[in-house]
Amino acid sequence: MAAFEKHVFVCTNARAEGHPRGCCSAKDSAAIREKFKELVEHRGLKGKIRVNTAGCLDQCEHGVTIVVYPEGVWYGFVKSADVEEILESHLVGGVPVARLRLADACINTERCAHKGGGTVQLGLGR
Ligand code: FES
Repeated sequence: MAAFEKHVFVCTNARAEGHPRGCCSAKDSAAIREKFKELVEHRGLKGKIRVNTAGCLDQCEHGVTIVVYPEGVWYGFVKSADVEEILESHLVGGVPVARLRLADACINTERCAHKGGGTVQLGLGR
């Protein structure tokens, strides 16, 4: 069997209500993961694209957080309504969804526009 071509990791980490960093679970990440899985199966892509549950990806303020490998494209603030676009444009068509990509300056940083400092916004060119 050939290796998967892409892995989609969807953070489903849960924290107690009121945690300062929040969590992806509270933003309906389990439903997002299920929608990815359903669409992958429906499109006959099960052997090519693997959708996995992830623990905290440490980008909590940007949740729901998703990362796609092997290209290492990070998405933030993903909603259920965005799943089909990510699947068709990125996973099938090879074109990441620019409006949902996390800026490099938002990843693994202590401060950004979403963490109470900086001016980085969502959008390509980051
Ligand atoms: S809780 Fe999802 S990235 Fe941390």
